[in-house]
Amino acid sequence: MNAPSYHLPVLCDEVVRLLLDTPARGEVIDCTVGGGGHARALLEADAGVRIVAVDRDPEALAEARRVLAPWKDRVRFVEARFDEAAHGAGLLGPSLRGALLDLGVSSRQLDVDRRGFSYRSGEAPLDMRMGPDEDAPTAAELLNSLDEEALAELFRRYGEEPRARRLAREIVKRRATEPFERAQQLLDALTVVHRRTPTAQEKARVFQALRIEVNREMEALEEALPLLRDALHPEGVLCVIAYHSLEDRIVKEALRDWSRSCVCPPGLPLCTCRGEPLGELLTRRVVRPSEAEIEANPRARSARLRAWRKAA
Ligand SMILES: C[S@@+](CC[C@H](N)C(=O)[O-])C[C@H]1O[C@@H](n2cnc3c(N)ncnc32)[C@H](O)[C@@H]1O
Repeated sequence: MNAPSYHLPVLCDEVVRLLLDTPARGEVIDCTVGGGGHARALLEADAGVRIVAVDRDPEALAEARRVLAPWKDRVRFVEARFDEAAHGAGLLGPSLRGALLDLGVSSRQLDVDRRGFSYRSGEAPLDMRMGPDEDAPTAAELLNSLDEEALAELFRRYGEEPRARRLAREIVKRRATEPFERAQQLLDALTVVHRRTPTAQEKARVFQALRIEVNREMEALEEALPLLRDALHPEGVLCVIAYHSLEDRIVKEALRDWSRSCVCPPGLPLCTCRGEPLGELLTRRVVRPSEAEIEANPRARSARLRAWRKAA
């Protein structure tokens, strides 16, 4: 099944307002350009904005090129992981007016069965790689190779799956006779573990856990955040939209830490750290989509936006 539209940008007005409210100059890096929704809104809102449009998925980048064609003179497209792109931006020194991370997968990636991100089609291959990264193991390869303990930890950590251990045991038992290849095999294992047809939420959290591991999403985020911070021009703004509590926690802690004046360990008689904040939080409270936005776009439900401005 294909979605009627590629992807509806989440919290778009808030992102545009936060990212453009700065005197900083330079480009805005959209690290997860996807279908180009946020990038387009930024280009429309400010005729002076120039964008570096990054995505690791060549299909997403092709769509972004199509959507952003009217503004192509103001956009550079880069096929890369955002941690690599952030490293590249850092090499140029503090050159960015803003940076946007809209994490996770797009609606299109979820809707195209052959990508294997969704549990909706039992025939879908258990792939889940966002980019054409041939060295990265697919979801099937993880299911067929990780030991029981590692599988249980993966489902627990990234899926908050209460039956993680039982599911891991069932997978190890089943793969001894038939290696995992298709989504249906994972759904069958889940059905045995639950002793009934699993709910949509129960299926989604197991698929999500695998996707996060396949794409090393948490590692990419942890690496990219300080690189983007350093690449921001003074008063440049960083916006991050997270869809999972673990990734939101990483963002929240990083932005809080950068906004503190002292990060010395407790109990030190004298402050020996930087002694001043690196910038300020622009979102004292996390920003969530309105009920109206969630109704129009149910996939926005779990979104949490945080923003930070680098010191002058
Ligand atoms: C939620 S979608 C972004 C949608 C976009 N903001 C829009 O308005 O259309 C997330 C996108 O980020 C990309 N992505 C996820 N992790 C990435 C990473 N580590 N490096 C580069 N792109 C990544 C995915 O391929 C996907 O296209």
